[in-house]
This record gives sequence, C-alpha cells and structure tokens, in this order.
Amino acid sequence: MKNVLVIYYSQSGQLKEIADQISLPFVEDANVNVTYYNIQTKKNFPFPWDNDSFFDVFPETFKQIPTEIVPPSNEILQTKFDLVLLHFQVWYLSPSIPINSFLKSEYAKTILNNVPIITISGSRNMWAFAQEKVKVLLKDVNAHLVGNIALTDRNINLISVITIVDWMFHGKKRKVYGFLPLPGVSNQEIKDSSKFGEIILPFLKQENYNNLQQKLVDNGAVEFRWFLLSMDKKANKMFTIWSNLILKNPAKRKTLLKVFKGYLFAAIWVLSPIVHLIELILYPILYFSISKKKKYFQGIS
Ligand SMILES: Cc1cc2nc3c(=O)[nH]c(=O)nc-3n(C[C@H](O)[C@H](O)[C@H](O)COP(=O)(O)O)c2cc1C
Repeated sequence: MKNVLVIYYSQSGQLKEIADQISLPFVEDANVNVTYYNIQTKKNFPFPWDNDSFFDVFPETFKQIPTEIVPPSNEILQTKFDLVLLHFQVWYLSPSIPINSFLKSEYAKTILNNVPIITISGSRNMWAFAQEKVKVLLKDVNAHLVGNIALTDRNINLISVITIVDWMFHGKKRKVYGFLPLPGVSNQEIKDSSKFGEIILPFLKQENYNNLQQKLVDNGAVEFRWFLLSMDKKANKMFTIWSNLILKNPAKRKTLLKVFKGYLFAAIWVLSPIVHLIELILYPILYFSISKKKKYFQGIS
C-alpha cells in the first residue's frame, strides 16, 4: 500500500479541481491510499478580492513573510507518506501566503522530511520564479522534488490580465464583455490533467522517479513562454524595491500601495508590450540561450 498526500489551497476551487483530477488514478487504485490536506490560515484572505486587500497582500507575499496556519490533523502529522503532491498558486510572482506559510512551518518539516514531492501550480502564467522560490523552501525542509507541473491560462498575456482580474474581483469565471475567453486554466486542461496522475502512478509504485519529469513535459505539463520568463525576472527586481520601500515605511503604507498600483498598471500595459517587441526582435540572436533556459525551467534541478 502506498500513501499519497495531496496538499492544496484554493480560493476559487480551481486548484482543488486540478488536485482532484490529478489524484483520480490514485483514488481508483486499490493499492494507493490518498489523503487530502487543505491548508488553512488563521487569518482569512477574501475571495472575491476587493481593491485594498488585493494590493495590501503584496509586500508580505513577495517578501515571503509567513502567517499562522491551522495545524494539520494528527493523522497527517503521524503518517509517513510515499509521495506528496503540492498544489500551489502564485501571488505576486511568489508562492501564495498560505503555501509559503505552510512550507515555512514546523508541520512541513515533519510531513515533508525526506519525502518525494511533485509541485503543481495553477497560475495566470508567471510561475517560473515562484517555482524557484518553492524549490528553496522544499530544500529547507529536506523534501525531494521529483516532478513539476505548471498549469496556466494559455491565452494572450494581456487578455488573461483582463479576464483574471475580473475573476478575482467578481469571484466567478465568466466571459468578460461577453466575448473574451474564460479566465484561468481551461476546463478541458483541468479535465485532462488526470493523465498526469496516470503518468505518475507507475513511478510511485516502483519508488523511482528517474525520467518522470521528461514524461510529464512530453505530455504538456510545463508551459514555457520566453517573454513571460523575461518579464518575470525583471518584475522580480522591481518588486524587491517596492516591497522593501513599503515595509520600511509603515506610516506611508496606504499611499505607497496606491503608487505601486499605478506602477503595476503602467508596467503591464505600457512596459510589457515594449519588452515583448524587443524580445521578439532579439529571439533569433538569443535562440541558444533561450533553449537552455527552457530546458532548465521545464526541469526540476
Ligand atoms: C493577489 C494575487 C496575486 C496574483 N499574482 C499572480 C502572479 O504574479 N502570477 C500569476 O501567474 N498569477 C497570479 N495570480 C493568479 C493565481 O496564481 C491563481 O491562478 C488564481 O488566484 C486562482 O487560484 P485559486 O485556485 O486559489 O482560486 C494572482 C492571484 C492573486 C489573488
């Protein structure tokens, strides 16, 4: 009998749907015992979001400052799991506060110590450097990363900005203006993600995960867009400056968050199309370096 722990946090339910689909082949297998762990924080985050709360979580999210979480059950704490599937969402290019708080907790040290782990993100599309931050946290608790699945909204970047913001502020996936595509990971992709569970299952049984990541990538598990990686990197630099500035000036927090909102708006709608154009022009020159980066970000090293 193999024990699998499925960890998730989800505001809209999207990541829970993904977790259910990926773990489906395990649930249907009589030799696998699946336990679900829904991370809960003592302080609640609103969903749908309002303007102030959405921007107010920026500095703490980006600086990866943890908040208190509700302890997992004794059953979870006392079981030695053979595999953990960690589902996380990206907030401000970083693991969301609930996920970061769990990974930095004593509970994670107990549950994840010396356990193979597969990370599964469900984000808008900028997940790459958040995954790098998760890798560091996993190393800190001695978990062994054996696979990664990064599910995203595959629509054009600026369209997904409009549709995801609408979803976050209204709480429902809907067609903005009646014709824009639905936000988030597509229903079809969520439904099809049980194929990843099927791919993982034999690796779990043989307790050897060599070559798992390549198989996942071959089946479309990790979307890579060079332009997004480049924006992610640049935005991380800018977010470091903004988060430091806001946290060092608590008396001016509200005002600075308003200015940050303006900056973010300009970065998305003015800077990002310019960067995109430059990246397109540079693409042939940078081809080999981009291929190298693609290999790295689709891998797990
Ligand atoms: C405060 C906040 C910040 C977010 N920042 C990012 C981001 O930097 N990159 C990204 O790809 N998605 C971002 N998202 C989208 C989330 O990763 C995720 O797709 C969405 O919140 C749905 O997740 P859920 O399962 O918790 O409902 C953000 C969402 C929220 C609420």
